[in-house]
Amino acid sequence: MSIQTILVIGAGQMGSGIAQVAASAHRKVLWHDLSLALIDKGMLAIRKHLERSVAKGKLTEEAKESLLSRILPTGDIEQAAEVDLVIEAISENMAWKTALFRKLDEICPPDVILATNTSSLPITEIAAATTRPSQVIGMHFMNPVPVMPLIEIIRGLETSQIVFDTVFQLSKELGKTPVEVQDFPGFVSNRILMPMINEAIFTVYEGVATVEAVDTVMKLGMNHPMGPLELADFIGLDTCLSIMEILYEGFKDAKYRPCPLLRKYVKAGRLGRKSGQGFYTY
Ligand code: CAA
Repeated sequence: MSIQTILVIGAGQMGSGIAQVAASAHRKVLWHDLSLALIDKGMLAIRKHLERSVAKGKLTEEAKESLLSRILPTGDIEQAAEVDLVIEAISENMAWKTALFRKLDEICPPDVILATNTSSLPITEIAAATTRPSQVIGMHFMNPVPVMPLIEIIRGLETSQIVFDTVFQLSKELGKTPVEVQDFPGFVSNRILMPMINEAIFTVYEGVATVEAVDTVMKLGMNHPMGPLELADFIGLDTCLSIMEILYEGFKDAKYRPCPLLRKYVKAGRLGRKSGQGFYTY
């Protein structure tokens, strides 16, 4: 099955990146969020990134305009009926996601594939909200989407082989490296990444080292592009906490206990870059 038209739902950082990457791979992209003002903001962010690429000589002005012309904002979710694939990238809230998937299931013809960019919620549970669980799959992009080559492709319990193969192939055509993963808490990426970040927070909490020292150890000692605390701020501390909660709840294992300092920061509204303060001030 060939995927030519994609509906991206969600105008946050991930949705913007996915819309950009899909348009860059010459797909027609419909882009929806609850308000067109949110999409306008996302379009502006994409335009800025592309202008930087033009200034660096990595993209021509014509290619930039052509890419942007392939992204069509829409306030009408009913347009989901016209696409081959929907990629949902809304907030990590199971009730919102299942409500959206139920609605998409009503609107879309039966062969349309419904993908979720969830970073840790169970694909099987999202799929169960629809009458087409075999057509539902996880496509977990990494942030920043235009830069990071990985997509975790997560099979729900009922995901069909043809849907898996189609999405795997599409991911390659988007210029990414897909990796097959089964539907377990945190998949692979966050099952490994988040406990590392949580442990870094514990080292600060227990006074083992300062924030800067922990990040320096991991950057210079392990060649990580960002230290774990800088990365936590980049991802969002609320997101990190919610993923740790899903791991803790899903495995019932004390090794996934979220650090109290992480909880404290989230309660205080220190959410990282997006709120101006996390482990660092922005
Ligand atoms: N959007 C688009 N492009 C971006 C970007 C963004 N938000 N941020 C940086 N870039 C581009 C730059 O334009 C630049 O492009 P060129 O090479 O074409 O010039 C390139 O990325 C490198 O950027 P910089 O030189 O400004 O900065 P850098 O070398 O310090 O790299 C970084 C920035 C790529 C973010 C790097 O620090 C990095 O790889 N950090 C780790 C990111 C990471 O681990 N992401 C995964 C997070 S976990 C996740 O996403 C899963 C989850 O569920 C939580």
